[in-house]
Amino acid sequence: MMVQTRSGVLSWCDDLAWRAMDVAARVCRSGLRAVLVWLLCAGPVLAGRADAQDTPDFFRQNCTNCHTIGGGRLTGPDLKNVTQQKDRSWLIEFMVNPRAMIASGDPYAAKIFQEARQVPMPTLPGMNRERAAKLLDLIEAESKLKESHFKGLQISQRPFTDDDRAQGYAMFVGLHRLEAGGPPCISCHSIEGLSALGGGRLGPDLTKVFERLKGRKALSAWLAAPGTETMQPVFKDHPLKADEILAVVAYFKSVAAKPESDAAPARMAFLLLGLAGATALVFVFDAVWKQRFHAVRRPLVEKAERGRQ
Ligand code: HEC
Ligand code: HEC
Repeated sequence: MMVQTRSGVLSWCDDLAWRAMDVAARVCRSGLRAVLVWLLCAGPVLAGRADAQDTPDFFRQNCTNCHTIGGGRLTGPDLKNVTQQKDRSWLIEFMVNPRAMIASGDPYAAKIFQEARQVPMPTLPGMNRERAAKLLDLIEAESKLKESHFKGLQISQRPFTDDDRAQGYAMFVGLHRLEAGGPPCISCHSIEGLSALGGGRLGPDLTKVFERLKGRKALSAWLAAPGTETMQPVFKDHPLKADEILAVVAYFKSVAAKPESDAAPARMAFLLLGLAGATALVFVFDAVWKQRFHAVRRPLVEKAERGRQ
């Protein structure tokens, strides 16, 4: 009787244990199965999708600020049918390292460089031969369409107002926060006459950028997706909004149009500050030198005196 009860209890425990293990195993198995299914199916699907979507995204992110396909030239030439103008291997070489190709003295590179008013195409982050080949495939396919997806951005062409210029200035110097949270331009750029000391040195002076980047349409497109090594990573996730671009371009246009003499007072201030700085440095060096001189001379003098005793 006892034995039976015990065996009954035992078998009940046993049963429970088995059941728990079974459930655990099933959970594990289904978990494992889910992981395996994901690895076998979803992995390649995701990778495949990334591959297929990658090239248009890459083009949109890195090229449309300077190029259209069938929408006319911006900073760079219209890329429609570019593969019919020049052979693929040359274009791939060029895209991988534009500056090297221009520097090599290649006549075609020199020609397109001149046509772009000597703005060199930058080497884009993530560019390599394989990517360049895929981009050419995309450009070729888009060139065949009646209307390419990359014909150009829609940026308002309405006349600039004083309000636009004021807003643009406020954004440039950081008085007016950029909506998507990008850093103010002045942290890396200067503008002549703005302030003698304000303005970062990481990026170029932008006083004449309106002319340099060929006016409203091209500069607006450029700012919609800055494609340079420094600005792209910073603004990729914090792009400027269309109305912000309009305002900043209005401001750039107004400063580019100002006569040079406007900047003279600022340059004078800079010169004076420079002089003051140099004078201060002379004093500092003088003081330091005297100290060092004493420091070297004192032991010598002491030694000589000790020798005399
Ligand atoms: C900052 C502006 C800028 C960006 C961004 C840019 N390019 Fe360019 N690209 C130029 C300029 C300017 C030229 C003309 C040559 C020169 O001056 O370097 C050019 C020339 C070219 C050419 C040769 C055109 C011809 O007529 O033979 C190709 C192809 C090209 N770019 C593709 C691309 C692709 C693809 C991207 C994106 C991955 C890209 N570019 C991004 C400015 C740019
Ligand atoms: C983190 C620093 C940084 C910030 C912030 C920044 N830039 Fe730039 N920018 C650069 C650098 C550096 C260059 C030069 C190209 C390069 O090396 O990437 C440049 C180049 C440019 C150019 C092209 C100049 C030329 O002559 O080719 C323009 C236009 C420009 N910036 C506009 C802006 C505007 C407008 C803002 C503010 C909304 C801004 N930048 C904010 C660093 C910055």
